[in-house]
Amino acid sequence: MSQQPYQAPRGTKDVLPENQPYWQMVQDVSRKTLEGVGFQKIDLPHFENADIYNRGLGDQTDIVQKEMFLLQSSPEKSEDSSYALRPEGTAGVVRSYIQHGMSSWSQPVRLYYIGAMFRRERPQKGRYRELYQAGVEIFGDASPKSDYLAIMSAWEVLKRLGLKNLVVFANSIGCSKCRPKYLAKLKKYYKELLANVCEDCQQRYEQNPLRLLDCKREQCQNTTENAPIILDSLCNECRNHFQQTLEYLDYFDIHYDLDPKLVRGLDYYNNTVFEITVENDRNRQNTICGGGRYDGLVEMLGETSTPAVGFACGIERIIRLLKEQGIKPPASRGVEVCILQLGEKAKEVSKEVYDQLSREDINVYFVPCNDGLRQQLQTANKLNARYAIIIGQREAMKNEAILRDLSGSTQELLPSKFLVEEVKRRLS
Ligand code: HAM
Repeated sequence: MSQQPYQAPRGTKDVLPENQPYWQMVQDVSRKTLEGVGFQKIDLPHFENADIYNRGLGDQTDIVQKEMFLLQSSPEKSEDSSYALRPEGTAGVVRSYIQHGMSSWSQPVRLYYIGAMFRRERPQKGRYRELYQAGVEIFGDASPKSDYLAIMSAWEVLKRLGLKNLVVFANSIGCSKCRPKYLAKLKKYYKELLANVCEDCQQRYEQNPLRLLDCKREQCQNTTENAPIILDSLCNECRNHFQQTLEYLDYFDIHYDLDPKLVRGLDYYNNTVFEITVENDRNRQNTICGGGRYDGLVEMLGETSTPAVGFACGIERIIRLLKEQGIKPPASRGVEVCILQLGEKAKEVSKEVYDQLSREDINVYFVPCNDGLRQQLQTANKLNARYAIIIGQREAMKNEAILRDLSGSTQELLPSKFLVEEVKRRLS
């Protein structure tokens, strides 16, 4: 009986060559934009001590309770048991900030990352178990300037990719001074409604009442309608901070809406929180970016208190939106020139031409084979090369070469010394 062929694990995908230009474009634009506004790249391990997630993200969050891929302990090395595949980037960057003494670097420290994260979620459209994020973290600035910089950088990446109809949903979830008062009001409101909410929300009522506001189940959404609004309970400091952040957004013409129910699914946030999505995705099933301020996390993971703010964009979701909005990535340059040669002397000359073209950053395919001209031309056509340079024994002896346009099948004989310049001129 024949075996079923192996499949990629549930919730993962292969990025095949036809999709690579999209991935390349998102990574290139992210890199260029973020470096252009002062971020430096950081790469981190794909797994970390699970503790940083338990403590940092909150042990009552869905990510920690249900979605972490814990690495199995090996019988010989029991210390492996405490590792987890990273479900997100922020806690790892904070760990690195502390480990490398970045608090002694010039502040604020602005870092960005691009890479895979892992969450054991129920896979569905736009929701993967291995997902890629491009994100930033800013450390050491408590002012709204950095909240603005985080939101503006995300917005700028998405704008430069050509995405349209985006909106930033923003909220402030206050600080340790004003939030408890709000939570008390929220619990009072929900006390009567507990029978109407889902089981998860009944638990949230005890452990993390703020998250009662962002349950996606319809029965729970209905109960949020008349819930007290956190913006009404902010202390002056938090209100001013949020107000100034919004003023910056107005200045930069960033399209935003206030969403008093936006609380985010990770426990480390305080003050500003935000998500970016398209205008017609009001329920935010496909949020492409999420972030906010997390002034307590560095201290929680072991260093002195350090203000911080950041965001992460989901690359799969960005690519899906690019396709939906008909935005095409630039075509890959591919093979620009194929050198076809016949004979020993021609091979020697071809090698020189290959070196000259490569030095000019022209993509050249050259294999010093003994195939006939017809076969070599077939190869050039299969590679979709734009030009072929043909050098036979006669051309090699006379310092000449034939330049053939493979799209029009026209060709001309050129002195070798003009060859590179002519190819450059035509390609430009
Ligand atoms: P997050 O909201 O959990 O935040 O994820 C950020 C983005 O990653 C989401 O808006 C979404 O686009 C994408 N994403 C999340 N889960 C999935 C999934 N299962 N499949 C596909 N895409 C997904 C964070 O991760 C925070 N660390 C962001 C942050 C950085 N906050 C401060 N600094």
